[in-house]
Amino acid sequence: MTNRRILVVDDNPDLHLDFKKILKSSENEEEKRLKNAALALFGEDKTSLAQKIEFELDFASQGEEAFGKVVAAHEAGRPYALLFVDVRMPPGWDGITTIAKIWEKVPCTEVVICTAYTDYSFEEVLSKLGVSERLLFLKKPFDSVEVLQIAIAQTKKWNLEQSNIKYSEGLEQEVELRTKELDQERARSVNGAKLMALGEMAGGIAHEINNPLTIIQQNAQLLSEMLEEKMDFTAIQKRTKKIIETTERIAKIIRGLRTFSRSGDNDPFDTVTMAQLIEQTLGMCREKFKVQDIMLTVDNPAPSTTVECRQVQIIQVLLNLLNNSYDAIEKNAERWVKIEVADFVDHVELALTDSGCGIPVAVQEKIFQPFFTTKEVGRGTGLGLSISRGIIESHQGQFWIDKQSKNTRFVISLNKKLAPMAEHKNVS
Ligand SMILES: Nc1ncnc2c1ncn2[C@@H]1O[C@H](COP(=O)(O)OP(=O)(O)OP(=O)(O)O)[C@@H](O)[C@H]1O
Ligand SMILES: [Mg+2]
Repeated sequence: MTNRRILVVDDNPDLHLDFKKILKSSENEEEKRLKNAALALFGEDKTSLAQKIEFELDFASQGEEAFGKVVAAHEAGRPYALLFVDVRMPPGWDGITTIAKIWEKVPCTEVVICTAYTDYSFEEVLSKLGVSERLLFLKKPFDSVEVLQIAIAQTKKWNLEQSNIKYSEGLEQEVELRTKELDQERARSVNGAKLMALGEMAGGIAHEINNPLTIIQQNAQLLSEMLEEKMDFTAIQKRTKKIIETTERIAKIIRGLRTFSRSGDNDPFDTVTMAQLIEQTLGMCREKFKVQDIMLTVDNPAPSTTVECRQVQIIQVLLNLLNNSYDAIEKNAERWVKIEVADFVDHVELALTDSGCGIPVAVQEKIFQPFFTTKEVGRGTGLGLSISRGIIESHQGQFWIDKQSKNTRFVISLNKKLAPMAEHKNVS
């Protein structure tokens, strides 16, 4: 509802009456004069503006009283839109002090200073109150039409400003709400991507475990046959050793799987050898590559080549790179993937190259964007590389495509020692 509450602040009671006459509808001569003036001014219909616009008038005779009323009204949720304030109001605060005090508490109040020539100069007022678009000057003695026009315009201005504020507050809330929804959506997608990666891996794990299980089975079978026939201790020892080795391999795969299935977001940063990172990753996909006859070569890094990282997250990155390569080349005639490690003074670079012939420049620009995928629906979420880049950046590292290479080649650079504070950053 439009707020047309006006407070007249003047120590002269006659002026209160004058304002009442001008701003309250009545049937006296003054009203008729106003009716005509308003008609001439605004070209409106025959009903007077003062009659059409219902102002709610209130009065104060002293600055302190006005201040009290404005603050109380504001706190009660029924603020004044406009104040007409006299300058001289002995014995209390003068108009300028009153306005300054009121603006401190309720800055949005529109004010008209009613002043005679002998009062403060324009410059003095501005020096005390500052330049404000909420301030108008009305010279005494004033014209009724002018007062009415100011009352209409300034209350309208107050109301417009308030609805603007409400509108932008509403917009801000809307933006906040949408951002929250987007964040939730993003979290869901990231989780979806993790689940999908896990699903894909579960399939891969079947391959990984199937083969060693066959080895165990065959060796156990052989052992049993040997025991039936004759006790050849050396042969038995050889077979049992093979069984132990193979169960160790399965245990390793399962350890890797356990590690991978956690998000790792809150893990501490540890110093880990590159050899360990690569071995753990390969433990989860070696068999899958073998089945597809993809040659995997690793330029084994020295045990002294270490990085400070969240192991689980780096394994996630490497596994995504390996899976991407697998998807890209599985049907190619030439199928190989090569992992190389270069040890520098303060950082380590891991390069993963596959036999693919590079990624077209137009696609290269997009592959790190979330949800960009060239894979068929249901196969890729397009989040792998964007999550990976996030992980590498949270490790203060870098992740790029080697554009010089004629094959598809990704490089990851990780620091041997992190700068302080890195621990506090999370990715997803
Ligand atoms: N080694 C690669 N060779 C060719 N194209 C690649 C290679 N790695 C990534 N890409 C391209 O980048 C796209 C984005 O990869 P990203 O890992 O972000 O998502 P995705 O593999 O499609 O899906 P997700 O990893 O979520 O299952 C891939 O769809 C593919 O087009
Ligand atoms: Mg991927």
